[in-house]
Amino acid sequence: MAVRHIVGIDIGTSKICTIIGQIDKDDRINVLGSGIVPSKGIERGMVVNIEEASRAVIASIDKAELTGYRVVSAYVSISGRHVRTYNRKGVAAISRVGDGMVTRDEIMRAIETAQADALPTNLEILHVMPYRYILDGNVVRDPIGMHGFRLEVDVHIVVCEMVAIQNLIKVLQEAGVEIDEVVLQPLAAAEGVLTAEERESGVVLVDMGCGTTSVAFFAQGNTWHTHVIPIGGHTFTSDIIMTFQINPHSAEHNKQVIGDAIADPVRHNEYIEVEGGRAGDYIEISRLLFNQCIQARADELVDFVIYEVNHSIYDGAYASGIVLTGGGAQMTNIDMLFAERFSAPVRIGIAHDVYGLSDALNSPMYATALGLIRWGYHHGTTDDGTRANDEGRWVELYERFKEWLREFLP
Ligand SMILES: Nc1ncnc2c1ncn2[C@@H]1O[C@H](COP(=O)(O)OP(=O)(O)OP(=O)(O)O)[C@@H](O)[C@H]1O
Ligand SMILES: [Mg+2]
Repeated sequence: MAVRHIVGIDIGTSKICTIIGQIDKDDRINVLGSGIVPSKGIERGMVVNIEEASRAVIASIDKAELTGYRVVSAYVSISGRHVRTYNRKGVAAISRVGDGMVTRDEIMRAIETAQADALPTNLEILHVMPYRYILDGNVVRDPIGMHGFRLEVDVHIVVCEMVAIQNLIKVLQEAGVEIDEVVLQPLAAAEGVLTAEERESGVVLVDMGCGTTSVAFFAQGNTWHTHVIPIGGHTFTSDIIMTFQINPHSAEHNKQVIGDAIADPVRHNEYIEVEGGRAGDYIEISRLLFNQCIQARADELVDFVIYEVNHSIYDGAYASGIVLTGGGAQMTNIDMLFAERFSAPVRIGIAHDVYGLSDALNSPMYATALGLIRWGYHHGTTDDGTRANDEGRWVELYERFKEWLREFLP
């Protein structure tokens, strides 16, 4: 594949991050420019104010463009409550014309029937990912070239409320940027941090953002399930504000500096002075109580993730355990808490094989933005994301989805 410039814009609840990148033939990302600014007009992953959000996106792009590249199109992340997921089954008879052998055509036909089951009309399909093939009643890894009569394909479908996509498109339009593709956040983060071996042996990616926590399960090289949980770092901070009646800045600061996802009566047996309800006023609070407040929410979040894992169709082992990304992954001992509750290995995911990376990007917070670059390289069909493009075409999502889907077929 020719080397080209790819732009990723991660539109998060707390920050907007634009990265101009390039991928070489060894799958290494070269960061050519980046712009990180505080997010505006976004709540729990959703655009709530188009004007504010587009101003923030423009500011982020302007920073990234300081290196001399002009952004014309970008891969954009999406998360939030308006994302829903379904598992569906599609079926196709194997044509006798081709000697009864499965080809890509049969797989495409089966996948199309999986979508035929009417979805509510206010939803837009983002991703359709086949994860299991059954040929004449037997599960097979790669049916292409095999003989049979009936092919069943299980697919995982990610949809989003139409208005949310339209608002996102509007934000990018106002910023003068075309959308190459809208990508579900944990899928982008997974591109950034997971290895092919982890996807094969089974792994759960958990992206802990500010407004949402999104999860994606991978096994046997396929995506089996995704889900967005409406709890994020903001929820932890709100809990602290309510419990200790301290101001939002103090709550956020202390969460990051002294917060611990495992409250420990021995390690945390002390009182600490924190800024109270008003700036400049200090109060004493129990450090143990502070961390118990954090752990209560963290436990609830882990409960949600465990629920999703237990209800996933995949019944094999997640041998590679859990990979945590997003700013919340930086919370002290959050990896320990996940490891204890899951009895599985846990690691913090930082995008691998990234060059020209400023230290600021070397964090799980930027896994999604960096992953969007790799996503664009692996699944993209578009022109150079930084070259002037006079057609001004906007994405026809369905056509793009069909091209993109071919990348997922065996
Ligand atoms: N050291 C830390 N301890 C605890 N939380 C942290 C720490 N560092 C950052 N966070 C939290 O991470 C969150 C920001 O993460 P991130 O940048 O991944 O969110 P986002 O992408 O903007 O949001 P979303 O994906 O939910 O739309 C904030 O809520 C912040 O409080
Ligand atoms: Mg995020």
